[in-house]
Amino acid sequence: MKRLTYLAYWVFLCSAVICSGAQAPSPSPAPKPSARPRPLATAPSPGPKLPGLILGAAWYPEHWPESRWEEDLRLMQEAGLHTVRVGEFAWSRMEPEEGKFDFAWLDRAVALAGQHDIFVVLGTPTAAAPAWLTEKYPDTLVTEWNGRRATHGNRGQCRPTSARYREFSRRIAEQMAGRFGHNPHVIGWQTDNEFGPVSYDEDTRRQFQQWLKARYKTLDSLNQHWSTSYWSQTYNNWQEIPIPIGGHNPGLKLEWQRFITDTFRDFNRNQVAVIRAHSDPRQFITHNFMGWYDGFDHYVLSQDLDLASWDDYIGTGHLDPASNALLHDLTRGFKRKNFWVMETQPGSVNWAQVNNSLDRGEVRDMAWEAIGHGADAVSYWQWRSALGGQEQYHGTIVGADGKPVPLYEEIAQIGKEFARMGEGFRGTSPTAETALLQDYDSRWAIQFQRHSQGFDTFQHFLSYYRPLETLTQGLDVVHPMAPLTAYRLVVAPHLNVLPDAVADHLLEFVQGGGHLVLGPRSGMKDAYNALLPSRQPGSILSAILGGDVRQYYALEKPAPLSGPAGEGEAKIWAEMLEATAPDTEVLARYGKSNGWLDGQPAVITRRVGAGRITYVGGWLDDKTMASLAAWMVQVSQVKPALGAVPEGVEVCRRSGQGQDIFIVINHTTEPQTISLPHPMREALRGGGATSSLLLPPREVGVLLPAE
Ligand code: GLA
Repeated sequence: MKRLTYLAYWVFLCSAVICSGAQAPSPSPAPKPSARPRPLATAPSPGPKLPGLILGAAWYPEHWPESRWEEDLRLMQEAGLHTVRVGEFAWSRMEPEEGKFDFAWLDRAVALAGQHDIFVVLGTPTAAAPAWLTEKYPDTLVTEWNGRRATHGNRGQCRPTSARYREFSRRIAEQMAGRFGHNPHVIGWQTDNEFGPVSYDEDTRRQFQQWLKARYKTLDSLNQHWSTSYWSQTYNNWQEIPIPIGGHNPGLKLEWQRFITDTFRDFNRNQVAVIRAHSDPRQFITHNFMGWYDGFDHYVLSQDLDLASWDDYIGTGHLDPASNALLHDLTRGFKRKNFWVMETQPGSVNWAQVNNSLDRGEVRDMAWEAIGHGADAVSYWQWRSALGGQEQYHGTIVGADGKPVPLYEEIAQIGKEFARMGEGFRGTSPTAETALLQDYDSRWAIQFQRHSQGFDTFQHFLSYYRPLETLTQGLDVVHPMAPLTAYRLVVAPHLNVLPDAVADHLLEFVQGGGHLVLGPRSGMKDAYNALLPSRQPGSILSAILGGDVRQYYALEKPAPLSGPAGEGEAKIWAEMLEATAPDTEVLARYGKSNGWLDGQPAVITRRVGAGRITYVGGWLDDKTMASLAAWMVQVSQVKPALGAVPEGVEVCRRSGQGQDIFIVINHTTEPQTISLPHPMREALRGGGATSSLLLPPREVGVLLPAE
């Protein structure tokens, strides 16, 4: 899909803002531009030397009397914490009255943290506006889908589309950056918090219409791409176009998601621009994403960030290492570089069905898994619960009494380990020969019309990720348009929206000698979420596949399948494939099912020069997927990073500084013995060169070359 260039978008946005200023109800004027922010120190600071691996926590000094801060920071330092994220909900303390700023308390908190060798990530507080703002300017509040305006007292309650709210947000970010942009203890910035809530008000609708106009130029084009002659949807005027609520035109729905993406991008850029203008380049800017959350396109938003970060919560239950690993790799893929875990749970959360605690050792297990997948920092939410407020029951590191909870000990162990191992990890990151392709357009398109309720895109993606991670011991999860030449194997579990530009990119990969595997529902839609007037996976890839999809079926019950790919069943979804070229091989056929599928190809593959393309027509059960994944890596000549390990043991590799470091985690509750391909040194617990590693339950090994 051709996205709007930023320039075009900016031109559009300025006009939209002017437009909305003229038309939107404006009970009071927008805030006056503030005086230039006052920096405390003007000279660019050299900046601190951060540890190679960083442990941290979210700390809310504004919840506590200053007399308590010293003790909190002492306990953090003792546990080996080196960062705190501060300020992201403290707007009412920073700007207690409109235009009156108070950062003196934050100066003192940052300085005191610095005295304890603890660096600060400052959060802009725009996820929680002060009451004076929403009271005086109620037009800044979001309107929910049912027309109800949000009331004060929650967060995410202000409209990212509000020109007025953007101006207030820009101003507070500018004030903060002016004050802390050269502070040696401040290492970075987080904009807002977990972008998500959208608004269904008339001003937002008008902006959406303007956005569509900039994208489509003419209503004829829009009407044609959306097939609006269907159900009398034809639009004669841009003002007629609604915000989609509930079931709606698939083209309209996809564009709404893209509009939301550009809205958050712009809301974010508004703050990023002023932070950059007032800060040292050494200070990074990030935003804390939410794993698989699909409210906006994270690749687009990440373009303006220095690093991606995410909030890693388990909720009810326990760590499933593969699903968590997938989300780490997803986040690493946003910028194709190391990332931060900006929040993770110290034991338990307060918002799940059952807020059970993670078992002893599980928090440490998660911390090392994050590092293995490319996190350079792991930060807990939160240090201590406020005595009041909505999150009293959430897991913490220090209790209501201000004393360490039992988990403190485990966190302190991680702190010691990060300190000891950090230097070795500096400049290293995961590398992979296999990539999984992930894109929001396809996820949205499937989500709008699942066709079978069971078609959960996360679970389907995971069905590929899980066996491939085990076999390769290192995967990348990237956007379909990412550079692919470094990979031997590229797997697209459900690339539903497949415009020609993407198909050409994948074609080039195959022609360059790579192996492309397409899963079910691939190549069905164009960039406007219209059906392609060709069989899946679209004419460009069908031509090299020597085959295509004749029909798709949502399954009431699993359909058996067998062949060289393995023996098992397809569940939830099955596509009847056809091999149209003589050299297209059938790797599996369906058994007796609905009559239509019986005996028909379920998996086909074809060599293309030195490359290969494979199409998988069904959602395969775990056993079949495991054997197909084994075939994929074997035929693509992908090697495991370390070698075979017992089930439940995860291997991660980080490379750099001319060497590989392996993190080996025993996620099971039994001891496990790992045979090493050659003698290595286990550095975490210490010891000489060994060819065999014994890992107690939930234990971690860090393997370095034997000297
Ligand atoms: C999110 C938020 C935090 C906190 C946690 C609780 O990640 O960013 O402020 O509410 O959830 O789990």
